[in-house]
Amino acid sequence: MPNSRIVFIVTGSIAAFKAAQAVSRLVQDGHTVRVVATPAALQFVGAATFEGLTGHPVLSDLWEPGRAMDHIHLSRWADMGMICPASANTIAHMAHGLADDLVGALALAWPREKPLHLFPAMNREMLSHPSTMDNLAAVGRAGVIVHPTAGGNLACGEVGGGRLLEPDEIVALITPPRLGRVLVTAGATREPIDGIRFVSNVSTGRTGAAIADRLAAKGWDVTFVHGQSSALPNARTTRVPYGSFADLDATLQRELAAQAYTAVIHAAAVSDYSIASVNGGEPDGQVKLGSGESLELRFKANHKILPRLRGYSANGAMQVIGFKLTLNQTASRTEEIARGLLGSTVDAIVANDWSHIDGDRHPGQLVANDEAPTFANIDELSELLHRRLLRAGAGTGTPVAHA
Ligand SMILES: Cc1cc2nc3c(=O)[nH]c(=O)nc-3n(C[C@H](O)[C@H](O)[C@H](O)COP(=O)(O)O)c2cc1C
Repeated sequence: MPNSRIVFIVTGSIAAFKAAQAVSRLVQDGHTVRVVATPAALQFVGAATFEGLTGHPVLSDLWEPGRAMDHIHLSRWADMGMICPASANTIAHMAHGLADDLVGALALAWPREKPLHLFPAMNREMLSHPSTMDNLAAVGRAGVIVHPTAGGNLACGEVGGGRLLEPDEIVALITPPRLGRVLVTAGATREPIDGIRFVSNVSTGRTGAAIADRLAAKGWDVTFVHGQSSALPNARTTRVPYGSFADLDATLQRELAAQAYTAVIHAAAVSDYSIASVNGGEPDGQVKLGSGESLELRFKANHKILPRLRGYSANGAMQVIGFKLTLNQTASRTEEIARGLLGSTVDAIVANDWSHIDGDRHPGQLVANDEAPTFANIDELSELLHRRLLRAGAGTGTPVAHA
């Protein structure tokens, strides 16, 4: 993803000079990089080098005044992290969850949905030692992406594995080509009565935000089109706000025409009605109606946006996925209702019933002509959507890099 926020952790290896080259490449490619270096790393490359390359001071000390919470803040700020080079010592710390320095605390506090890449570098005996092998396996099990080392001449004069990959290889591995672009809508429309009042619905936007987070983590570039009080994704997405039904409709027409999306996932709760008149006149966003007056609203029916989305799109084969929430229906009735929404311009419907949703429990079905797999929560739904989008991207010639 261009313009990613990267926490780049450097530890005490003779290969630390390659970290400076990799940091330089990442900054040139448009990423924002914050370097964290262990005191041992700074024996090999000075803080001034990394500060000069990134434009940001290097962080090294867990106890530095004014920076006490950096091990939390940095991990929340980042889109991804990397430990490069990773010394045997730091890998051992991570494998055992030790958090007595900034790197250990940062690695332990790292949110598991964000990629954390580890590039080991050490003498071949250190690498093949059973302790290091066990430690690498343990950090891998904890979700860290462990990259291989290269063979060849080591700095210590020996020949074998343990050499840090070259800067170009490192950069290519952490910034793989993205899978394609997906637009996710979320939240509620607001139909204005006057300048401060509106008619809306109970949608929180949480489902759309959670799906956007998971798809971004899987490698999709996500545009998140959201209502004004909607929950927002944590992952880096392009955010586009909307207000009323008319505003959402115009925003989608503009956005979908501007670039070829692989898919739209339309989770927004869109008002079926807009306000046609307020006390017999046009709604006026520049006034505030008096609070003592009676109020007469007339509503006009809105068109359905979902079946129009493909027509708005620069990609005539764009996948269109909608949502249908029922209330107190059986699963088979919910599926039947969802099937009624499928058609030549709607490929799949996420169908669920409000009465079954309870915190993380979010069961439903992804209803399409060819299949209707079930899911138990948003993670499983996101996985189904991801796989469907991969197939759609492959079918339309939209760039698909890897699963
Ligand atoms: C010249 C020199 C080169 C070193 N190279 C490495 C190395 O490539 N990999 C490694 O794991 N340790 C290497 N070490 C040892 C580490 O720097 C040492 O274990 C240190 O405590 C690591 O601390 P850190 O993990 O907090 O950065 C080297 C030490 C020296 C003096």
